[in-house]
Amino acid sequence: MKLWGGRFKNAESKLMEDFNSSLSFDKTLYYEDIIGSIAHVKMLSKCNILTEKEKETIINGLNEILSEIESGKLKLEGDYEDIHSFMEVNLIKKVGEVGKKLHTARSRNDQVAVDMRLYSKSKSKEIVENIDILLKTIKKIADENHVIMPGYTHLQRAQVVTFTHHMMAYHSMFKRDKQRLLNAIEIMDENPLGCCALAGTTYNTDRHFTTKELGFKKPVDNFMDGVSDRDYLLELISDFSIIMMHLSRMSEEFIIWNSKEFDFIYISDEFSTGSSIMPQKKNPDAAELIRGKTGRVYGNLMGLLTTMKGLVLTYNKDMQEDKEPFFDASDTVLKCLKVMNGMVCTLKIKKEKMYKAVKKGFLNATEGADYLVNKGMPFRDAHGVIGEIVLYCEENDKAIEDLQIDELKKFSDLFEIDIYDFIDYENTLNRGIKKEM
Ligand code: ARG
Repeated sequence: MKLWGGRFKNAESKLMEDFNSSLSFDKTLYYEDIIGSIAHVKMLSKCNILTEKEKETIINGLNEILSEIESGKLKLEGDYEDIHSFMEVNLIKKVGEVGKKLHTARSRNDQVAVDMRLYSKSKSKEIVENIDILLKTIKKIADENHVIMPGYTHLQRAQVVTFTHHMMAYHSMFKRDKQRLLNAIEIMDENPLGCCALAGTTYNTDRHFTTKELGFKKPVDNFMDGVSDRDYLLELISDFSIIMMHLSRMSEEFIIWNSKEFDFIYISDEFSTGSSIMPQKKNPDAAELIRGKTGRVYGNLMGLLTTMKGLVLTYNKDMQEDKEPFFDASDTVLKCLKVMNGMVCTLKIKKEKMYKAVKKGFLNATEGADYLVNKGMPFRDAHGVIGEIVLYCEENDKAIEDLQIDELKKFSDLFEIDIYDFIDYENTLNRGIKKEM
């Protein structure tokens, strides 16, 4: 069932019909399509293009369709070109001839554009809410675990940090992600309804009315841009990609920390799976899947950027390819945020294991050098002296603070008893990270 055909002599090939149809995926937009149509019909009546009675009949019909879809009575399937044709044909079936007036002063080009704006705006707000939940969870686990751990560069133990500080680094990342999404929502919050096919309509319509009805900030400035702009989807998927990149880094940390080699954390059974052959295995699949799904979100971004590249104004059917990447990217990021939140909520920190790694890692070596500098030695020489001490400690399986003062004095007579306080891990933290917080 199509909305066109008058100018055609021959029927469309079945193959082409299948190829062209988008209902299997744009059915996701059923709700936005209906509320967009209701706002449009209200506007038509306000502008005296439809009578009050016609408006009522159409709106009632659309509301019935909505409840039938939601109750499962009306299935979003069948021989329709897209969700827009589905709605119009079903409306005509329901309310008769007057249903044919719904599409007055509108094209599917501005219709699909308004549907996607509404859908992507509300989905992005849902993602923002889920970032907020994750932010709270990260803050909570950070606050509850003021535990000393090694901080890394090059994945080599570098300096002592706290689990709190490490987690709050991710808090900063997700806070920026939230802001980025809010900015994108602010920019895209414009109404394309009324642009019609590409150049507006001869009817005296009111774009400000539908803008208000649908909760947009303003109507788009330019009709041709209004029907062919997909920047907002690209911007949102870019933001989703950055969120996924952050989630993947966090996942990778958890995977490493959960390994027996590190053994810093315990990922709960709820977010782990087993092996079908190796009974001893408990795998961090949730974290691995988040890391893996990052690739498909990047893929969606690349796909849509490539679809849009070089497209002349205005609407081209290529743009129908904007939906699946956006749906997939937004669903994926939402699910990953929820799973990450669940995993962080149930994470257990192995305080002793972290402390042991700090001791084994000579994480107060830099502070040892700073001590000698404070006593008057040039930094480069102090670096050399501490390097020799580290070598000696490694050979004797000791930490710097385990050496007696006489042993230390063999390397430099600047060492006094206050060295132990100076290189104490808590004290180094207090002079470093903590003083900045
Ligand atoms: N299914 C189409 C899409 O998603 C709707 C717009 C169709 N417009 C047209 N002129 N054929 O882009």
